[in-house]
Amino acid sequence: VAHEHPHGHGETRWDDYGRLSRLLDPRRETWYPRAVILAALRADEGMTVADVGAGSGYMIQGLAVAVGEAGKVFAVDPSPAARLHLLERVREGPFPQVRVLEGTAESTGIPADSVDRVLWQAIYHELRDPAAAFREAVRILKPGGRLLVVDWEPQETEVGPPLSERVAREHAEEAGQAAGMTVAERITVSGAVWGLALHRP
Ligand SMILES: C[S@@+](CC[C@H](N)C(=O)[O-])C[C@H]1O[C@@H](n2cnc3c(N)ncnc32)[C@H](O)[C@@H]1O
Repeated sequence: VAHEHPHGHGETRWDDYGRLSRLLDPRRETWYPRAVILAALRADEGMTVADVGAGSGYMIQGLAVAVGEAGKVFAVDPSPAARLHLLERVREGPFPQVRVLEGTAESTGIPADSVDRVLWQAIYHELRDPAAAFREAVRILKPGGRLLVVDWEPQETEVGPPLSERVAREHAEEAGQAAGMTVAERITVSGAVWGLALHRP
């Protein structure tokens, strides 16, 4: 189920602080409505949540509020520019329950069996090794924990990645099940974004 990655190894297009700022544009709500995504994630008071590939922190406030001060949010991203953004979001809150970590979906640095929820938002199409990422999600989730994947439908829209880079939900279903997860729910996030909730048995 591996797919070709359009970029070389090493740095990515997300090393740019200005480009990451554009992900915070309020117009992004049209495609990535926060309320819909938070409801589908089912993050509750006191939970531990990992926002993997958290970027500039579009979801950080929503996640921090959902888990409350008794909860914990790990905001993980491989890009130094993204982590700078994330630290700004944390300071703006301030959200003492959020920890910013250097890592990838394939290797998060989060302890095993420690999180209730994992969010992969608009990162699935960027993953070089989806199978390894699913194995890592299974490792960090508690039994019964939920992974929510949301990404662009493979169709043309005026914004978002080119069609050639987009990955269908079926790809994630197959790869997730191959890693031992069960498909819990298929969600229509917006007209051009699919959602998939998987559970760790
Ligand atoms: C389109 S942005 C999405 C950011 C955020 N999730 C959002 O929706 O606003 C993609 C992010 O994935 C990160 N990324 C790239 N490769 C990754 C990987 N292998 N694991 C985790 N994150 C990755 C990039 O650094 C970037 O911040």
